[in-house]
Amino acid sequence: MSDSDVVIEMKDVVKRFGDQTVLDGVNIEVRRGETVVIMGGSGCGKSTTLRIMIGSLIPEEGHVQVLGKDIAILDENELNGVRKRFGILFQSGALFNSMTVAENVSLILEEHTDLDASIIDMMVKIKLELVDLREAAEKYPAQISGGMKKRAGLARALALDPEILFYDEPSAGLDPVTSASIDQLMIDLTKRLGVASVVVTHEMDSAFTIADRMVMLHQGRVLMNAPRADFEALRDWPEDRLGELNENQQLIRQFLRGAPEGPMTEHAQGADNSYAADLLGIDNSKLTGGRSVQSTRGVRSSGEVGFWQGLFKGESKAKGKS
Ligand SMILES: Nc1ncnc2c1ncn2[C@@H]1O[C@H](COP(=O)(O)OP(=O)(O)OP(=O)(O)O)[C@@H](O)[C@H]1O
Ligand SMILES: [Mg+2]
Repeated sequence: MSDSDVVIEMKDVVKRFGDQTVLDGVNIEVRRGETVVIMGGSGCGKSTTLRIMIGSLIPEEGHVQVLGKDIAILDENELNGVRKRFGILFQSGALFNSMTVAENVSLILEEHTDLDASIIDMMVKIKLELVDLREAAEKYPAQISGGMKKRAGLARALALDPEILFYDEPSAGLDPVTSASIDQLMIDLTKRLGVASVVVTHEMDSAFTIADRMVMLHQGRVLMNAPRADFEALRDWPEDRLGELNENQQLIRQFLRGAPEGPMTEHAQGADNSYAADLLGIDNSKLTGGRSVQSTRGVRSSGEVGFWQGLFKGESKAKGKS
């Protein structure tokens, strides 16, 4: 693929909130027609990355090119021009409750184009057909299910024939079957419309279904950026050959498998014991070892001598067990 296929380029991006550095030198490229899934633990900066890509947050360092434009230096007018070229599906669908599904979609077209009402009407029908929601056109958001709201949000995101689609947790709050149907819809749309998609998700089944490439964020950095197959190989890496993986690879494997024990949970333990103390209703100073207990399983696996070890005496201390 040539450089002209790159629709998003984030280079050495640093984003801070106050004295918290959320992104610490992030590099991500997205090419035309591919679906890139961004994943990582809660609070690792996935939504922040997405918001930087759509120009609603400006990074402190680095640069971000979207559809050939440096998104950080555009004025509001220019930014809106670029934004017209992408669609965003927010977590909740973010529909206007006082408008029908069809009106939610047509609003975008009325705001951003000079098309006749009859043409807009036809385009709305086409978009609703794309997401299989023609029958619900005249319904209000309160009258449709969560999955249908997602579809309606998607129809709206597609209204202006975007070149890039952004999704933040598209399957959050949906049952597995509905979630799988949204995945399938995303795959179909990417194929049929040739758009690039950037998807933030926690759902591993979904991630492995839709991704061409995956990006794993951890502690403000890109831990791995590779084709889906490479991530699959790590996920399926056999337990008895764990020693062949470096620590980062073990951490990614743990994340992909949703395993409670491994380097990820051990790293997550900081110097603060207040949560554990609160949980157990005991004096914080009695907790030795200086680790907070965000996951008792993680502490269990750390092999650390102290209060927690005593508590879970006799239980497995094996590292990276899953
Ligand atoms: N506007 C903001 N002001 C201050 N801090 C923020 C802001 N937005 C995000 N943060 C902080 O930045 C960090 C990353 O947040 P972000 O929403 O990007 O995480 P995430 O990876 O999307 O998490 P989740 O999986 O829970 O949605 C968090 O610690 C969050 O509190
Ligand atoms: Mg988020």
